[in-house]
Amino acid sequence: MSPKIKLENFIAPKGMQDVMPSDCLYWDYIFSAVDKLGKTYGFNRIETPILEDSRLFSRSIGENTDIVEKEMYNLTTKGGDKLSLRPEGTAGVIRAYINSGMANWSQPVKLFYTGPMFRYDRPQAGRQRQFTQAGFEIIGSMDPIFDAQMIQLVYSIFKKIKLKNIVININSIGDAKCRGKYKTALVDYYKSRANKLCPDCRRRLSKNPLRILDCKEEKCSAMREFAPQIVDYLCVECHNHFKSVLEYLDEINIPYILNPYLVRGLDYYTKTVFEIVVEGGNKRQLSLGGGGRYDDLVEILGGAPTPAIGVALGIERIADQLKASHVALVKNSSAKVFIVQLGDKAKKKSFKLFNDLLEAGIPAAESFGRGSIKSQLRVANRLQVRIVLIIGQKESLDGTVILRDMESGMQEIIDSLKIIKEVKKRMKNGN
Ligand code: HAM
Repeated sequence: MSPKIKLENFIAPKGMQDVMPSDCLYWDYIFSAVDKLGKTYGFNRIETPILEDSRLFSRSIGENTDIVEKEMYNLTTKGGDKLSLRPEGTAGVIRAYINSGMANWSQPVKLFYTGPMFRYDRPQAGRQRQFTQAGFEIIGSMDPIFDAQMIQLVYSIFKKIKLKNIVININSIGDAKCRGKYKTALVDYYKSRANKLCPDCRRRLSKNPLRILDCKEEKCSAMREFAPQIVDYLCVECHNHFKSVLEYLDEINIPYILNPYLVRGLDYYTKTVFEIVVEGGNKRQLSLGGGGRYDDLVEILGGAPTPAIGVALGIERIADQLKASHVALVKNSSAKVFIVQLGDKAKKKSFKLFNDLLEAGIPAAESFGRGSIKSQLRVANRLQVRIVLIIGQKESLDGTVILRDMESGMQEIIDSLKIIKEVKKRMKNGN
């Protein structure tokens, strides 16, 4: 016999959490806004596998990013395939776009998805190893109006869930043509100051210099004040694109902050990049969402050159922010009828009645685990159900049901064969 394992030895893996029913109220609330507004803006839902070929991520997110270098959950299957738990959703969606021939659909293709992502990072407040994103991608247009529409969509989601003081941090990081010159200027600037950089940034200097700009270490962020800024290096096309995006945002009064240090942690971005933050938050505040244009990614992954833009929202962080902002949500039951039972025979009859009510399309609730009528009525009260159907010993024998109107307190005895019709009549009359 195997030795008994003490149950208290089992806890959720580090950096991964149970989402409790009280949290799910917030999740459902956010997902409902994501779903409604996503569809309003013309997005169709897509779900891609949680595991993908590891190379999909190294090629799209970038070999020299923190995500690929340090944070991937990698595994080899029994068949020898090297797979990774997805650290983000864009790469999988673009793979699906290419695999499924979506390039032949009417462009741009608008897709959205929700689901868990995995990054083996150091867990801390607002940063888990398993977290959940709602992501949106517009694939197949280089028009700056879609950059603005993407921001408009997330802004309207925050408005719908009543999260106030949302502001967009925005920047352009140019494209492959103009970024080269900027990188050279940046490396020149930091090279002479390399000994003052943190060890990570010293490494970034040769591998991924742009990331030095958003390093959170104080000595690194202090140094960036006099560093060259990307806006001065943008080519005419990137400059005009960025200008148009900002003009569209001005047109609909979306507040944004031009942040020359915003570079993002994934390599696939070109031109517009943005993050959503709460206005007035402290310096180390975490973004509630982030995204940008990625015009080269489809081609990098083997498709025809296809420009695209996207964003992903962090569900846990948004739920935390809702709670911190005292957005109160209450659990509301959709039940119209509650069944109360007393005794074994009545319990069986109630079980059948519950089934009949649901089959007739009447949302019903019960508390079969409770024995006393008083405690069952208490549950009915809490659910704010108007009609309660009671089956006791007597009713179970003579084929009747007591119908109690919880508002007036009036009770009537009804033939159990006529009960569904009676409930329907009362519901129609607004009872
Ligand atoms: P990202 O900025 O890496 O972008 O993640 C988007 C959001 O996911 C973040 O703003 C944050 O709210 C949440 N998030 C990220 N990491 C964690 C974590 N460890 N714990 C909790 N929440 C986290 C992307 O993933 C891109 N795929 C977005 C995109 C879509 N770009 C274009 N299309």
